[in-house]
Amino acid sequence: MERSDSDIVFQSYGRCCNNEQFFIDFYERFMDSSVDIRELFTKTDMKVQRHLLRNGIMQLVLYARGMSDTKLRALGKSHDRNGYNIPPEWYHLWLDALIATLRQHDGDFSPEVEAAWNCALTSGINIIRQAY
Ligand code: HEM
Repeated sequence: MERSDSDIVFQSYGRCCNNEQFFIDFYERFMDSSVDIRELFTKTDMKVQRHLLRNGIMQLVLYARGMSDTKLRALGKSHDRNGYNIPPEWYHLWLDALIATLRQHDGDFSPEVEAAWNCALTSGINIIRQAY
């Protein structure tokens, strides 16, 4: 990935991540993508969850900028078959919901910004997904 991609992503996230509604809209969209996914969050305190996800996305962005993979490996462990048991096939729904929510909230969204997000997050998401 080019350095400029991670800069584009860093700035795009900066335009979105201080707005609680961004995370509300993300989870609504993500849960709309499958009844099985909605089911997983029925007992979750979503206010806490939104805060945790804000940090989780930041971990993905920082990994794309060269930070160590330790935090992502820990997420891989919590999501694996002995943890939340999240099948690897579901991660593309997560990424699709994220991109759609960025399109909705980032006033400077463009095909270039979308491509930068896809490029920047793929390897970090794979660390979590492949821990399954
Ligand atoms: C919990 C991030 C993908 C379901 C969490 C937490 C974080 C997080 C930071 C809280 C910390 C922890 O428990 O380890 C992410 C990131 C993802 C991702 C960055 C994408 C790469 C998914 C997917 C699903 C999912 C695809 C389901 C289809 C859950 C569930 C919890 C959780 C069920 C626990 C909720 C609870 O405590 O009740 N996730 N997640 N996650 N995640 Fe994910």
